[in-house]
Amino acid sequence: MGRSGPWSWLCFSLLVVGSFKVLDVAAAAQSIVFSGRAAGEEKLLQGGQKKSECPFPDPSLYYRPVIGILSHPGDGASGRLSNATDASYIAASYVKFVESAGARVIPLIFNEPREIIYEKLKLVNGVLFTGGWAKRGLYYDTAQDILQKVLEMNDAGKHFPLFAICLGFEIVSIMISKDEDILEHFSGTNQASTLTFAEDMAFQGTIFQRFPPSLLAKLSKECLVMQNHKYGISPGRFQQNPDLSSFFKILTTSTDDEGQVYVSTVQAHGYPITGFQWHPEKNAFEWGVSAIPHSEDAVQVTQHAANYFISEARKSSNRPPAGQVLANLIYNFRATYCGKAGKGYDEVYIFS
Ligand SMILES: *[C@@H]1O[C@H](CO)[C@@H](O)[C@H](O)[C@H]1NC(C)=O
Repeated sequence: MGRSGPWSWLCFSLLVVGSFKVLDVAAAAQSIVFSGRAAGEEKLLQGGQKKSECPFPDPSLYYRPVIGILSHPGDGASGRLSNATDASYIAASYVKFVESAGARVIPLIFNEPREIIYEKLKLVNGVLFTGGWAKRGLYYDTAQDILQKVLEMNDAGKHFPLFAICLGFEIVSIMISKDEDILEHFSGTNQASTLTFAEDMAFQGTIFQRFPPSLLAKLSKECLVMQNHKYGISPGRFQQNPDLSSFFKILTTSTDDEGQVYVSTVQAHGYPITGFQWHPEKNAFEWGVSAIPHSEDAVQVTQHAANYFISEARKSSNRPPAGQVLANLIYNFRATYCGKAGKGYDEVYIFS
């Protein structure tokens, strides 16, 4: 039954058609393989030389760096995506920023148990504090404990960079200065600005070290960096606080809508810690605000900033077990598109 009659004929003819197809594909594939092999053999003939032409990667660097990004309270979209009280988010632009320079991301969820955050810190080669608004409570405490770990690791000779962006820079300034009231009000919302470089500034060892001179010149004349902040620190206030001014050197200042000057980029003296009042991640990856510059120069600013950060992360000596990294990567979460409303972030990762 079933092996005779019209059905078996049908099956047979399908099989024949099928196997012709398979043969065709196999023949095509074979010719590709053959031509590939021929090219490969040619390379093999030059074998010995070939290898010495390609210098080995620097064994002191780590070429699979992972960055921990601290999540911020809320859904990043004013309740449009989630009203869960335990929700926190990371704008996807920070993730893309890191990924664009050759690293992966593990989210450090601010309200998960501290032991888990500390375990995750062992899986990463650097940390990023994002923009946002939270300056107290559990978010602040978590960020402070992470900063402490970053300082301890570096003090112990383990290179471990921190990028502190906008709010991230503001809270690190509060922590380092030990002054809750260090911040001042500025009119810096939704505007692109220039960067004024500090006099006699050494570019080497800073985020600007590999910016082409022509781009550096443009940064001080054209509005290539995005600002979105209500707080900041004036250079005077910054220099008056001995803890802050001995920890960070001012790389750049910028000017707000009312002509007030604020510190816009800083670099720690003895640590791979960079603070930005501006948003290096937005130029290439955020579209919700019309003031964000998207020119080729502006996009290059994003790319050079990301490359500098990840080049610092490659110096980290952390070599975490691959399995643990995979289990914690942000790829385990899905970004949500929220840019249709045309305000705020385009995509966010929400944790709740
Ligand atoms: C969150 O709450 C606001 C106000 O009640 C409501 O308009 C919004 O739809 C809620 N968001 C979600 C995702 O449920």
